This record gives sequence, C-alpha cells and structure tokens, in this order.
Amino acid sequence: MVGLIIKETVVHKVLVARATFPDIIDRLRGYFEVQDNPEDEVWSPEALSRALQGKAGLIATGSERIDEALLAAHPQLRAVCNMAVGYNNIDVQACTARGIVVTNTPDVLTETTADFGFALMMAAARRIAESEHYLRAGRWTKWRYDMFVGPDVHGATLGILGMGRIGQAIARRGAHGFGMKVIYHNRSRLPEATEAQCGARYVDKATLLREADHLVIVVPYSPSSHHAIGAAELAQMKRTATLTNIARGGVVDDAALAQALRDGRIAAAGLDVFEGEPHVHPHLLEVPNVVLTPHIASASVATRRAMANLAVDNLIAALGCGPDAGRPPTPVNPEVLKR
Ligand code: 8YV
Repeated sequence: MVGLIIKETVVHKVLVARATFPDIIDRLRGYFEVQDNPEDEVWSPEALSRALQGKAGLIATGSERIDEALLAAHPQLRAVCNMAVGYNNIDVQACTARGIVVTNTPDVLTETTADFGFALMMAAARRIAESEHYLRAGRWTKWRYDMFVGPDVHGATLGILGMGRIGQAIARRGAHGFGMKVIYHNRSRLPEATEAQCGARYVDKATLLREADHLVIVVPYSPSSHHAIGAAELAQMKRTATLTNIARGGVVDDAALAQALRDGRIAAAGLDVFEGEPHVHPHLLEVPNVVLTPHIASASVATRRAMANLAVDNLIAALGCGPDAGRPPTPVNPEVLKR
C-alpha cells in the first residue's frame, strides 16, 4: 500500500478594507480566507485594527491610515496593497522596517486620470459648472456677448507642477491635442527625449507660476509638498489664470485658494482633492468660480477594475501565491523582497 503524504499548506487571512467589485473579491477567495467590507463602512482606526486581527495581508485605499501604531498592533501583517497610485496614507518607512511589503497601482490609471485633469481644467477655464448652475437656477433669460466669457485653453500656456506619469500624460494632451505651450516644474528635470515627447519645457517654480495660463498640480503629497501652493504662490500667478488640483489635498492651501478666488486674484479653479476630504473648506463652497468634484479622477469603470485587479495581483504575489509568488508587480519598497 502506498502511503499518502498530504502537504500542509497555510491559507492566509486577508482584509479588504473598502468595497470593491464582487468578482475581484472572488479572485482573492481563490487564494485566501477573505474578510471584506461590502457595506463599505469607513472604519475608524480602532475598527480597522479590530478587523485586521490575524490578517497577513491588507488591501487598502487612500482612506485608511497605515501608521506605526497600527503596525505595532499587528506583527502578523506581511503585505499592504494600496488601491491607489498615491500612498501618503501609508508609513512606508515603518512598513519597510518591519519587513512588510507595500504596493500601489501605477500606470493603469495614468491616462484616465490625465483625461479628468484636463476636463477639470477646461471646465474651470470655460466656466462650465458655474454656467450650468446659472441655467439650472432659471436665471438664463437672454444671451449676452460677455456671458460666462473665460480664458481660452487652446494655444494657452499650460503649467504642470509635478511631471510624473500623469503630469506627462496631461502635457501630451496639451501640446499635441490643444496646441498649448507646455512648461513644467519637477524635483528633477526629465531626459530631453521625454521632454520632446511631451512637448514640454522645464522651468523654475517662479517662472511656472508667473507664465502659466492654466496651472495643473500633479505632485504627490509629502511633508515637502505641503502647501506648495499657498497665498504667496497664488499672488505670483496671472489674474486670468486657472489652477487645477488632481494630486492630493494639502498640496494646495485650500483656505488661501478660496480667498484668492473670492478676491479675483486668479480667475478660476478645478479641485478633485481637498485638505481633510471628504470635508471641503466652507469658503470653497461659497465661491462660484471653482469646480468641485469628489476625488473621482481615476473613476472610469475600466480603470477602477484595473486598479482593483492590480492590487489583488500584488497581494497574491506578496503572500507567496500564484504564478508570480514573491514578485508583486508594483512594489513601493522592493528592498523588502530581497531580504
Ligand atoms: C484613488 C488616487 O481612487 O490613485 C490615487 O492615488 O488618488 C485615486 O485614484 C483614491 O486614492 C482611492 O484609493
């Protein structure tokens, strides 16, 4: 009689902190014991910590704060996979020190987010939201030559602060689609070939602020980018300029921006992200010349699915499963994988 040797395999427990597509949760269930949150409750730090008991992996979004206190309470945690390209909600250094893999979702959202940034900039410049509110309020009784006139987009100077993947995709739209002159400022200058593809020219920050007709903010949030645009920077911009923020709340000083919009210091703004969101600075809600959207720049069906699938691919591989076991596709701290 031949003896049967059953290899013992550990089935990891994982947590998905916010609701996502049910079939993508099913994919995870093929590998792990999954606790998800189909009601999409936004957990307090205490509730998140309770749900994380015994979990080796976490799929998070920008809403969950992954800090040292949470990590210290969960020494079993091996992987934190963010369903976002930005990861300022995660203390990456603390994760790395504990050997926890952190991953994000770059590339899959670049073009969708750039489309939205461009749309928001155009909506601000051409006063789309403001004029729609006017129409809905029943105030449109006659046509006038100067009704909702604003600055042109085509042929204008597009200024981009933060020239990563999304900044470059916005530059390409401006230069090649709308005949714009594109200038950018970034921590480091891009290679000449990349600048040529984007039709963009590097300038210092003061020149960017002074020359841009439409300034788009795409710089990641970090303590060094906190209030990169505040009252002093807004004062350097053209009175006819627009400002669009699709990066993160906190990069722009929202109170100073509301004041600048109220004073006509700049013409208009488009904001998809806010300091302390989903709370929005009350003064921003009072000024008409700002288009406000609830952090939806990556919200196309295909892109949100791609982001969720990439986060799942990362978690499966980070916990040593699937065809790419041990090699998550988009790690933020790859040094952890070499240990
Ligand atoms: C996310 C984002 O939808 O990817 C990012 O960094 O800001 C958005 O695409 C949001 O952060 C939810 O995780």
